[in-house]
Amino acid sequence: MSWDGFARVLPATARVNEAGHLEVGGCDALELVREHGTPLYVLDESDVRDRMRRYRDAFGGENVHYGAKAFLTRSFVPILTSEGIALDCATGGEIYTAVTGGFPAERILFHGNNKSADELTEALDAGVGAIVIDNLNELERLERVAGSQEVGVPILLRVTPGIEAHTHEYLKTGIEDTKFGVPIGDAALEVVRRAARAPHIEIVGLHAHIGSQVFDIEPFGEAARVMVRFLARVREATGLELPVLDLGGGLGIAYEPDDTPATIEDYAKVVLDAVRTEAERVGTPVPAVKVEPGRSIVGPTMLTLYQVGALKDIPGVRTYAAVDGGMSDQIRPALYGATYTFVSASRPDTPHDTTYAVAGRLCESGDVFRRDAMLPRLEDGDIVAMAATGAYGYAMASNYNREPRPAVVSVADGHARVLARRESYEDLVRLEG
Ligand code: LLP
Repeated sequence: MSWDGFARVLPATARVNEAGHLEVGGCDALELVREHGTPLYVLDESDVRDRMRRYRDAFGGENVHYGAKAFLTRSFVPILTSEGIALDCATGGEIYTAVTGGFPAERILFHGNNKSADELTEALDAGVGAIVIDNLNELERLERVAGSQEVGVPILLRVTPGIEAHTHEYLKTGIEDTKFGVPIGDAALEVVRRAARAPHIEIVGLHAHIGSQVFDIEPFGEAARVMVRFLARVREATGLELPVLDLGGGLGIAYEPDDTPATIEDYAKVVLDAVRTEAERVGTPVPAVKVEPGRSIVGPTMLTLYQVGALKDIPGVRTYAAVDGGMSDQIRPALYGATYTFVSASRPDTPHDTTYAVAGRLCESGDVFRRDAMLPRLEDGDIVAMAATGAYGYAMASNYNREPRPAVVSVADGHARVLARRESYEDLVRLEG
């Protein structure tokens, strides 16, 4: 694999600098490590902003609800607000992080398949823009919580469109056998009717999310058509003209140099064309289309730097290169069998011609990032970069084995800014008396 291949999975500003090191956002990776230690998540700020803008140009900022679950820190919020996009929050904790970071609550959509009464109250107090109702129990719960509100609480109803997205079993949500949403058809129509009768609730639209890390974009078009037909059916059956159609997130990204995900623009075209043409075909008004991209905004724009330590050669079998992080900062390989590309940050343009099993340092044999990573011949102390770790990396990090979570820095124009500091041992015991 050559630099050109690596460039396809590294953040947009990544390059090899004059010192022969990996550089991102004008910062030498080895300098970043000297200053901030390893493991270290590095966010390319101009790349992430550019992706937000591309989504905004395609759909309109108020219709792009960045999926906070992919990556959110309070310090990341100003980037979201300055790019003028909206937010999808799945829990009270995400709402708290966003709002205390200065995010305008009215641009938040509140998701989740089992929101508690407390969370619903907090969301209404904060003034979120709309709540995505997942099921009848939740609608009833919201009716009770909203009883004291003077105006109707805007809601969308999440339905399962019965569309199969080609992705990992754990990442599929649009199929019938899923915990999310009300099955499209009579069941969903019943919930719409119920919401329409509820005095403190105003149903404004429908929502569907078919899955995550989806490469083939045709299922997004299919889901859009199915949903538009259902909007038409709701209109026919109830007279309600729901103005909003939220089609969720899910666009896939490249983790390997030869992965070929669709572009944001191609995805937008498929979705928007499908909505418009189907609405015209069935003679129903064209709704405002919302999307909730997480991975395809932040995923490709980060990498994680690790230091190589122990090298264990098992002759005739393989060589393990252990790094100073593991499943506590990156669970996706162990959980989904996800693969990541490794690049030497110390010598990115030397041939990556040696196979290593890159292992984590946690007490579990499953803590191996990749069994067939191609890297230059490694030495104790080398720095390697794991590419495309922005989505669901830091967000899913844990303290397993009592590992402190790493720091996150954002780099741009030769400067690094700490988005989250590295946890200390003291942080680990803070809640424990
Ligand atoms: N909207 C809803 C309702 C969702 O459930 C999700 C993701 C998104 C939007 C954002 O999807 P994205 O554009 O990021 O694909 N932890 C898994 C991914 C779980 C996705 C959960 N929902 C992973 O690491 O692959």
